[in-house]
Amino acid sequence: MSARKIGIVGAGNMGSGIAQKTATEGFEVVMIDVDAPAAERGLDRIRTLLAEGVERRIFPRSVADDILGRVRATGRPEDAADCDLVIEAVFEDLAVKRELFAKLDDICGPATIFATNTSSFTVDDIASATERPDRVCGLHYFYHPAKNRLVEVVAGSKTSEETRRAAWTFAEATGKTPIHSADSPGFVVNRYFVPWINEAVRILDEGLADIPSIEAAAKKAFRIGMGPFELMNVTGIPIGLHAATTLGERLGPFYRPSPRLAAQVETGELWPLDGDADESKYEGVRRRLLGVAFLVASTMVEETVCTIEDCDIGARVGLRWSLGPFELANRVGVTEAARMAVELASRWDDIVVPTLSRRQADSDKPFEFQLVRLSVEDGIAEITLNRPDALNALNETLVSQLEQAFDEADGRSDVGTIVLRGAGKAFVAGADIKFFVRNLDAGTVDRIREFTERAQSLYRRIDESDKLVICRLDGLALGGGSELALCADVILATDRGMLGFPETGIGIYPGLGGTQRTSRRIGIPLTRWLVLTGSTVDAKAARAIGLVDEIVPVEEMGARIREIHRSGPANGRAATSLPEDLDEISRFFQEADTEALIEGTTKSSHPRVAKEAGKVRHKAPIATRIADQLIRDGADKELEEGLAMELSHLEEIFGTQDAYEGLSSLGRKRPAFHGR
Ligand code: COA
Repeated sequence: MSARKIGIVGAGNMGSGIAQKTATEGFEVVMIDVDAPAAERGLDRIRTLLAEGVERRIFPRSVADDILGRVRATGRPEDAADCDLVIEAVFEDLAVKRELFAKLDDICGPATIFATNTSSFTVDDIASATERPDRVCGLHYFYHPAKNRLVEVVAGSKTSEETRRAAWTFAEATGKTPIHSADSPGFVVNRYFVPWINEAVRILDEGLADIPSIEAAAKKAFRIGMGPFELMNVTGIPIGLHAATTLGERLGPFYRPSPRLAAQVETGELWPLDGDADESKYEGVRRRLLGVAFLVASTMVEETVCTIEDCDIGARVGLRWSLGPFELANRVGVTEAARMAVELASRWDDIVVPTLSRRQADSDKPFEFQLVRLSVEDGIAEITLNRPDALNALNETLVSQLEQAFDEADGRSDVGTIVLRGAGKAFVAGADIKFFVRNLDAGTVDRIREFTERAQSLYRRIDESDKLVICRLDGLALGGGSELALCADVILATDRGMLGFPETGIGIYPGLGGTQRTSRRIGIPLTRWLVLTGSTVDAKAARAIGLVDEIVPVEEMGARIREIHRSGPANGRAATSLPEDLDEISRFFQEADTEALIEGTTKSSHPRVAKEAGKVRHKAPIATRIADQLIRDGADKELEEGLAMELSHLEEIFGTQDAYEGLSSLGRKRPAFHGR
């Protein structure tokens, strides 16, 4: 199923937020509430948020109008009849939800998938009210759903694999970072987050520390902007109490709310945050709060609620912790982490320390995260880069695991085709910039060199493999991601596919074949355009210039890959005729003088060309010169020689002030390059 029309029932904060995000990503939305005025109020919420976006110049008014134009507010559930997917986000009352789904079951066609955004009940609780439990799943969003990227995709005991996949694809298509969860109380994140908050209240209640000290200790230990009490004040203390009550009913005393939490709700007051923190209390608080994270996270993984990777993604993306529970365990040491879990568990009769913690402590080895997944079916190996919260940016671990997965697939006689894809909304957003910055700070450019050499050598193996390698480009590819895509024999893009080389804008140049394979594929002028300007091309433009081989609708991708696996790719990679503006760009960059581009003195009467040419002036001049030289000099050489030339400038470029300025400015400010 490829969902295009989405019904959202409940126009409150959650429902309207989900509607806003879904419409922002191009879907038609029907937002339903008990009556038309209630639905209209939801639309007003969306209007207000969009107006804020326009005011802050995040998008123009026309975009906000388009988004609003895609949301229809109504009081009639019948209007959901022809939706592909209906997401329920009404208040947490099981009887109400069951009644609603039973009604929708009659209204909607048999193919419609139902998803619940419940946080208190299970999917099974709800699915059993319908005649289609196989087509019911959970899509659990986090506040605020238009902004928070995390979505838990929950499969109940009867949810079909097809439904789970469709819900997952929908989450990805709306720019979310989905994680899998079993249908168990609290799913993934609330299962440890709610006890974490509750533990803070217990610490207060026991007099171990006061609120300012708990807040400060929590912020320091988890590197977060708000501690548990401030968070409760912002998100609603009754919500915390309700969540803990529900978890406690299902999971036992440890999860039950502290009486102090209930008492606070009774007062109707916020937690008082003011006062001086007492540093001597930090360690005690830290051990208890970390203990909760370690204990509950390990329990969940042992119960197969989720993987360690998804558990940590949940914390980083959903809660904005700088590290997830398992990464934190690695940081404090797995033995020490297990000790903290034991200390906490010893306070409760109903809690045992999971063997996972003990085993890891016995091994004394850090948890290993799987950032690359390999699966093989009917001769097709699918390699998924799975670091969606960092847009699959390539770090040392990811490259090393990609190497292992690729070599394994490449060596298997039962594999004929290898598909490379990214989890989440991107294919690969390039090399991990934080890795570069860390090594520049530490003066260890040799590690950047090792990383680059290793990735280059892996890319060569992918390029030269006897297997048919397909890149499934269903999102953004930048820098090292575009370079990886270019190693594939075939690039199949969905309409979300995009490619670009932003390196000169961050002070460096493409170092994994971007100045070499690109020109061999699309010629020197268009390579100069892409690399010197950093412009990103969408799937259509990429297809027009021959960078992408085919555009395939997302719902047909699996079938097209199987067809290519059986009968081979379409013949030749002939670019379609260039649209007028790309043709002009190509002509311009055939001749354009590099220094004039850098100085911004080139002239063109063609507005699009002038705009593209003008971009080069804002790039790092040294990187631009080297990149240009590599493109021109490498084009008629053997690929190997061209790649060696790319490597030969590595120390030089990473030694420039502009590289440091560009890399360390990313996401913070526009870099100022000085050609040094
Ligand atoms: N290295 C490390 N982290 C990266 C990354 C990269 N190349 N690209 C994205 N990320 C991380 C972001 O830091 C962010 O992490 P956070 O949530 O902890 O802040 C997360 O991925 C999501 O990215 P975000 O910027 O919030 O998404 P967006 O959709 O708003 O923007 C990009 C996407 C790709 C435009 C932007 O992330 C970007 O410019 N990335 C760098 C791309 C690049 O220059 N690559 C070439 C490297 S050689």
